[in-house]
Amino acid sequence: MSGKLEFIDLKTQYAALKDRIAARMQAVLDHGQYIMGPEVKELEQQLAAFSGAKHCITVSSGTEALLIALMALDLKPGDEVITSPFTFAATAEVIVLLGGVPVFVDIEPDTCNVDWRGIEAKITPRTRAIMPVSLYGRWPTWTRSMPSPRGTATSR
Ligand SMILES: Cc1ncc(COP(=O)(O)O)c(C=O)c1O
Repeated sequence: MSGKLEFIDLKTQYAALKDRIAARMQAVLDHGQYIMGPEVKELEQQLAAFSGAKHCITVSSGTEALLIALMALDLKPGDEVITSPFTFAATAEVIVLLGGVPVFVDIEPDTCNVDWRGIEAKITPRTRAIMPVSLYGRWPTWTRSMPSPRGTATSR
């Protein structure tokens, strides 16, 4: 043992689940339905149940998920999306990709989530969405406490 604490210890996580993972992977290899197979449906159903969402649609990446959410809102060039500056590049990237304008609100130092107290001042007639980022798994409380402006949807 090196004495170093790994930032993300995937090896220990994998060791605990190794047999179950191997069995499920073998089943996929056996039936050969890699795309839209029964495991995908099962994952979507389990994630929906876990999160309390009505539906869950899995996609190829986190970036794709953010892009699809904004496309579902029919984001138009010039539309503003309020979001966090403390995130991976993909958050602002997908907004810009659709011609939108990222509008950043600073984070709270204790949760690293967008400080909801700064949001209202940034809402304009062009605001189309508020995109919170729960980077470390701490869901922003303001999504429950703050009323959405007219025409604005919140994506996660
Ligand atoms: C907060 C956040 N959003 C989006 C992404 C993009 O996910 P992906 O690399 O799967 O496209 C990441 C990736 O690290 C992320 O940390």
